[in-house]
Amino acid sequence: MNLQEALKYGLSNIKLDNPQKLSYILISSLTNKSRIELMLDENITIPTHTYKEYISRLNNDEPIEYITNKVSFYSNEFFIAQGALIPRPETEILIDITCKLTKDLKSFNLAEIGVGSGIISIMLNRLCKNIHSTTASDISNQALKIASKNISNFELQDKITLVNTNLLDNINQDFDVIVSNPPYIANDYTVENNLSYEPQNALFGGVQGDEILIQIIDLFLSSKAKYLICEMGYDQKEPIKEYLKNNDNIKLSFYKDLSGFDRGFYIEK
Ligand SMILES: C[S@@+](CC[C@H](N)C(=O)[O-])C[C@H]1O[C@@H](n2cnc3c(N)ncnc32)[C@H](O)[C@@H]1O
Repeated sequence: MNLQEALKYGLSNIKLDNPQKLSYILISSLTNKSRIELMLDENITIPTHTYKEYISRLNNDEPIEYITNKVSFYSNEFFIAQGALIPRPETEILIDITCKLTKDLKSFNLAEIGVGSGIISIMLNRLCKNIHSTTASDISNQALKIASKNISNFELQDKITLVNTNLLDNINQDFDVIVSNPPYIANDYTVENNLSYEPQNALFGGVQGDEILIQIIDLFLSSKAKYLICEMGYDQKEPIKEYLKNNDNIKLSFYKDLSGFDRGFYIEK
């Protein structure tokens, strides 16, 4: 197929909004060429079988990031595949808050719980030059493999250690800062079709949804860490406030996402 044939096929077969844009993304991914390069290359050939297969996956609601194995986060491109959550733009706020809170620390040891594709630990290491070491955990081997690939792509193998464990179990190290974007959706919440491609243990946090968050808060309170920064569900501010109401020796703050929903909290000891 040449470019015109591929675009025509995409326009008549992609059953989602913006078929032309989606066709270009798939063709770019298949040919490793940008949209401009494609338009300038009259002789480009698009592998027909794979292109048609990609379109049928798209029509089955599979997120385009899993089809192209690429995702943009904080203006960087990361490898992504089924097995790790697709990074969400709101998680960039967690990164900004962590950088701001820790900017005056001379040097700190960071722990991330639930590393997924690695975006948080990687971006923090790229942005905060005062991180001494990072330990990042996950219970999913598939996620850890994806994180490991991204960590290598960004040449951060010497800075980030991956551990396959529940929370920070059996890690005998003290941390100064703990961050997490844990699963926080209630188990019985009905999610949209395309979320069914994402790992269920990245999404669902228990009967109420905030069970893992509460475990992380307890772990932080009993640790030597000075800061905990977490993402949470839009309806979890009150339960978390209530849970922490008798802790006078901490400072609890909440933040919103760009749509104005409560999206996270941070605690300072
Ligand atoms: C919402 S995803 C976040 C992934 C990534 N940090 C991000 O922000 O895109 C949550 C991650 O936590 C992991 N996870 C779930 N329960 C866990 C637990 N008890 N201990 C460690 N990791 C856990 C999941 O496998 C998943 O990779």
